[in-house]
Amino acid sequence: MKVLSVASELYPLIKTGGLADVAGALPIALAARGVDTKTLIPGYPAVMKAVKKPRKVHEFEDILDERATLLEVRHEGLDLLILDCPPLYERSGGPYLDSQGRDYPDNWKRFAVLSKVGAEIASGALPGFKPDLVHVHDWQAALVPVYMRYAEAPEVPSLITIHNIAFQGQFGATVFPDLGLPGHAWHEALEYYGTISYLKSGLLTAHALSTVSPSYADEILTPEFGMGLDGVIASRADDLYGIVNGIDADVWNPSSDPLLASHYSATSLKKRAGNRAALVERFAFDGDDGPIFCVISRLTWQKGLDLVPEVIDEIIDAGGRLAILGSGDSSIESALQTGATHHRGRVGMVLGYDETLSHLMQAASDVILVPSRFEPCGLTQLYALRYGCIPLVARTGGLADTIVDANEAALAAGVATGIQFAPVTTDAFRRAIRRTLRLYRDQRLWSQMQKQGMKSDVSWNRSAAAYADLYQRLVAKGQ
Ligand code: ADP
Ligand code: GLC
Repeated sequence: MKVLSVASELYPLIKTGGLADVAGALPIALAARGVDTKTLIPGYPAVMKAVKKPRKVHEFEDILDERATLLEVRHEGLDLLILDCPPLYERSGGPYLDSQGRDYPDNWKRFAVLSKVGAEIASGALPGFKPDLVHVHDWQAALVPVYMRYAEAPEVPSLITIHNIAFQGQFGATVFPDLGLPGHAWHEALEYYGTISYLKSGLLTAHALSTVSPSYADEILTPEFGMGLDGVIASRADDLYGIVNGIDADVWNPSSDPLLASHYSATSLKKRAGNRAALVERFAFDGDDGPIFCVISRLTWQKGLDLVPEVIDEIIDAGGRLAILGSGDSSIESALQTGATHHRGRVGMVLGYDETLSHLMQAASDVILVPSRFEPCGLTQLYALRYGCIPLVARTGGLADTIVDANEAALAAGVATGIQFAPVTTDAFRRAIRRTLRLYRDQRLWSQMQKQGMKSDVSWNRSAAAYADLYQRLVAKGQ
């Protein structure tokens, strides 16, 4: 089967979050199941710089008033189609925000062009490549099924995956005439309370919808989690699937990860000490006794990290330490930084994005904190399972689906892999920290939890099979 995947970020070329990991790892996992994927991404500077000798495969003379070149290249096991259009993608900031953290004012166009190109490839613009199915990710690619619906071209089945419903691609109605869609598309698909919502239009026009965990698939049907789109999703409930993300088990392998100070496995957990020593040095901790908690995250309301300053005392009073890596909302950044300044030697913070350090932190810390208010899937708790770092998570979305809480029954059966708490309040979080500290004091139990986590299958195996199966069903339905 041939699949065209369309995404706005892709590991290892360009990443702001888990979407990149998924867009980069899923095609590789699917290849083993006979699914050949080509992934269309924008030609951001980081992408253009990293790929070697891409081939020109198509020129778009006029795509929403832009000229663009389609390049093809194989890069680290991925077949990529890169949309080279310097006026849209050659920017000095990130993929969506300028260096001041503001949305690019022409994001509507940057991702409409990407989507239109996706739709053209689906209908055969690229000689020798006719996809059987198109899989698009998040709002940035959500117009692909819309352009496909309104093109006079044979229908190709499409799947849209929601990674984060908080980002919907909402723009003013004034851009509608420039999208190159027929007038009736306004009411049929795009209109959202007088504005345009790319995500909504994709959810209405794709053949099927998925999100990245079964629990989140249920949650987005409710007003609490649907963020205004619960009604739209409910109208498509029969076509909605929840498939949990996997991780690249080769990149995230503690026995061979080149980014670690010391390699280890479930049978040599003592060797984590080498990583711990490196972490203690990196965060300038004043000793290495007691549990080390860590945070590796975007620092946003979604992730619940505004609650962390409230529990710092709980950790420190118990002799623990806290290592924080992240960036995001300035109020959360500064609250955490204040905590680090007050508790020098006990709390350390690295502000920014550091892939290398994130590996070391997973391999060195005892606990990772993931107190998310909502979490479609979450990847850091999966990396943690693989690295023997115990996840302390909010009981929501993919966190609820992937971590087995250390309740009495789970402990007795030896199946616990972490700690869950709900609701996401300071009190419940604090109680969960206390529970974690109690478990940590019983080192026999603790290492049993570590080993159980390291045994969990967090690879793409099962989920790639679920996607391959869904693809097959959609293709069969379309015939
Ligand atoms: P989200 O996509 O909502 O941010 P996920 O847990 O799905 O959350 O994915 C986050 C990804 O980004 C993980 O691979 C995580 O390790 C990585 N990450 C987040 N913040 C940082 C950071 N500051 N430095 C390095 N990696 C980070
Ligand atoms: C989003 C979600 C996260 C998920 C990731 C990949 O960024 O916030 O929960 O793991 O996408 O699907």
